[in-house]
Amino acid sequence: MSSLDEYYMTVLRLVKEAGSIVREKINTPKDTMTKSCDVDLVTEWDQKVEKLLIEGISSKFPDHKFIGEEGTSLGKTIEFTDAPTWIIDPIDGTMNFVHGLPHTCISIALLINKTAEIGIVYNPILEQLFTARRGQGAFLNGAPISVSEEKELRKALVMMEMGTSRDPEKVKIVLENANILTAQVHGVRCLGSAALNMCMVALGGADISFEFGIHAWDIAAGDLIVREAGGVCIDPAGGPFDVMSRRVLCASTMELAQELAKLLVQYYPGRD
Ligand code: IPD
Repeated sequence: MSSLDEYYMTVLRLVKEAGSIVREKINTPKDTMTKSCDVDLVTEWDQKVEKLLIEGISSKFPDHKFIGEEGTSLGKTIEFTDAPTWIIDPIDGTMNFVHGLPHTCISIALLINKTAEIGIVYNPILEQLFTARRGQGAFLNGAPISVSEEKELRKALVMMEMGTSRDPEKVKIVLENANILTAQVHGVRCLGSAALNMCMVALGGADISFEFGIHAWDIAAGDLIVREAGGVCIDPAGGPFDVMSRRVLCASTMELAQELAKLLVQYYPGRD
């Protein structure tokens, strides 16, 4: 077994364990705490899941590094180096989790030399396990998945999000983009989880997903899963994807991605 096989088996076991917590707690009352604003929530379960993943991986691979949503929100600085680094969103779609809306997931990616090697997004409520390893394709519950072949924006189903920022400038741009797109595409959808939105593109159920203001932990796993499913991941202005830029656009084809990039009103949040 290669080292990467070992990392993958270990994290898969831990993600399933974490999934049991999310499944067990989703319909229970939760105390919430706020982060950047009063709709950016965290629960004790976000923190417990992150701890479970980090402790489980560290105990087997003590040299590995971590960039986790909850550790970062508690003040841990982000150090993104060439070392094997796990980028973790313990519960992506925390607002859904708080309300009991079953679109919520664990998102985790391993990057080595800043290249994504493993990506896992697991919705334990709907039993959707999306997995990818570099060069080996993308899978839903073990079955291969691939993006749609859509190239035309007017026929595309687009995933976007309102986001968790209440900055008036950001909200204005989100609504402007929703307005522009609603008139020009087949449909616009918001699931409430950036990672699951990207997996819907990987699955071929949607054709594009984009968002400004997300963080590395929301998109690191989704990026690999989309690309391994045959899609593309770029910066929403048309340039290369940068996991730390807090900007993402993924699509089934490059033609579609570039057509959307030309239309979007752009927003540049501070980097992770
Ligand atoms: C959030 C979700 C949401 C997206 C936000 C993210 P969280 O992640 O992915 O859909 O719009 O930008 O921050 O806070 O639930 O992990």
